Amino acid sequence: DRPIGVAVLGMGNVGSEVVRILREHAEDLQARVGAPVTLRGVAVRNLDRDRGLPAELLTTDAEGLVARPDVDVVVEVIGGIDPARALILAALNAGKSVVTANKALLADYTGELAAAAERSRADLYFEAAVAGAIPVVRPLIQSLSGDRVNRVVGIVNGTTNFILSAMDETGADYGETLAEATRLGYAEADPTADVEGYDAAAKAAILASLAFHTRVTAADVFRQGISTITSEDLETASAVNCAVKLLAICERVPAGPGEPGPAEGGKERVSVRVYPALIPRKHPLATVSGAFNAVVVEAENAGRLMFYGQGAGGAPTASAVLGDLVMAARNKFFGGRAPGESVYAALPIAPMGDT
Ligand code: HSE
Repeated sequence: DRPIGVAVLGMGNVGSEVVRILREHAEDLQARVGAPVTLRGVAVRNLDRDRGLPAELLTTDAEGLVARPDVDVVVEVIGGIDPARALILAALNAGKSVVTANKALLADYTGELAAAAERSRADLYFEAAVAGAIPVVRPLIQSLSGDRVNRVVGIVNGTTNFILSAMDETGADYGETLAEATRLGYAEADPTADVEGYDAAAKAAILASLAFHTRVTAADVFRQGISTITSEDLETASAVNCAVKLLAICERVPAGPGEPGPAEGGKERVSVRVYPALIPRKHPLATVSGAFNAVVVEAENAGRLMFYGQGAGGAPTASAVLGDLVMAARNKFFGGRAPGESVYAALPIAPMGDT
């Protein structure tokens, strides 16, 4: 069988784990896909570091790697807008499938990427972009597509949850805990994105776009981070039996203050906010500790669903990347989309507020 060729762009915390799993589980992956899944190359910024890989697999020419005719699926784990955006567009325009963990890019450019994917009938997968290992993108796109989602509330940033939990549980120092989160591979390259809520806002924009079939970008999200939260704030919260959590809240709300809600036949809009919130200790989200994430989805018919697991870190995020990769490779192998696979690229996207 013709192997499915894979290019990995970026070899940071997530990229190294993706490469490790690809190599360690080659046989399993082949069994699931139906053909060998072969690593064609890994694009890195510099070649000096020993990455435990044969030198011929490493390149600094990401563009050249994406363009190789034996590359069918491109895994983008560089993060950030440039050069990730151009590389993903080049791959999609060439009809290659793309798997990405890039929340910042997706939050602002889903429309452009989805259109490129649709034009060349290529697949675009991004389960790893929100809440690490937790399957939440696929349930929203597929499992709940016949229902009406009214609300999504979650803890979607592992670093800030790690910091708030440690400050709450052991009175640990903010700065030291942040350094520890960076050491453990949870924090972004620039942890400002975590502590100021930008990372959570990007994820909230993606969740809201998927949940409400609308276009929400990071700029539409009200955002407040945790950098001004003090131990005294946590003590005050504790005194009233509450925890402080950085929540991402996405919901349908009445179009204006005092106006009837959708249930009363009124117009609605989408509201998306990220801020540190007081929640009662007995609420399930209050018990989410360390770098774990949890997302609660409320749908008209399904009722309340809760997704919980490791939301940050190399291996958990790589698990979600590999799941997408298996699906993309299967679709390539079967010469189309595998039975039952919905097309991530074909998201119906309407302007925000027009749900
Ligand atoms: N920095 C992110 C977090 C990584 O802490 O959740 C996962 O997207």
